[in-house]
Amino acid sequence: MNPEYTQAIDFEQLRTLAREVAEKAYSPYSKVRVGAALLAEDGQVFTGCNVENASFGATLCAERTALGHAISAGQQQFTALAIWASPESLLMPCGICRQMLFEFSPELAIVIDSNGAGPKYTKLDELLPSGVKPSDLI
Ligand code: THU
Repeated sequence: MNPEYTQAIDFEQLRTLAREVAEKAYSPYSKVRVGAALLAEDGQVFTGCNVENASFGATLCAERTALGHAISAGQQQFTALAIWASPESLLMPCGICRQMLFEFSPELAIVIDSNGAGPKYTKLDELLPSGVKPSDLI
C-alpha cells in the first residue's frame, strides 16, 4: 500500500456500491446476482457485476468486471474490495478472480456480504496464500 494513502477505508460505502451494482447483473442462467466495488489507492471506486453467457465458460465474474474497469481507467493499486451476492449464504470470490486481483494488490482488504450472512472481512493473501506474482516469471 502506498504510504501516502492515509484515508480510512469506508467499508460501509463500498458494501452499498457492491449491493447496488449487483442489480445490474446479467445472470439469466444461474440467477445469482453479484456486485463488486474496488477501491483504488487514489480513492476512486470501480464497480462491476457478473456477466453470464450462453456458452457458460465465457462468464465474467463481478470482481473481474470491476478490475477491468479500474485497469482501463489507469488504476493498478487497490486497497479494498467489497463483494455482495444474492444467495443468502456468502459467495466467496472464485480462484480466477483471486489470482487476477493478486497480480496488482496481494494485501487487498476484502469484505464479503449478502442479505443473509456477513459481512465477512478477510484479506486477499489469506484467501490466496501462494498466488503467482509477476516477479515469479523473471
Ligand atoms: N460469480 C462471481 O461473479 N464472482 C465470484 O467470485 C463467484 C461467482 C458469479 C459467476 C456466475 O455468474 C454466478 O456467480 C454463479 O457462479
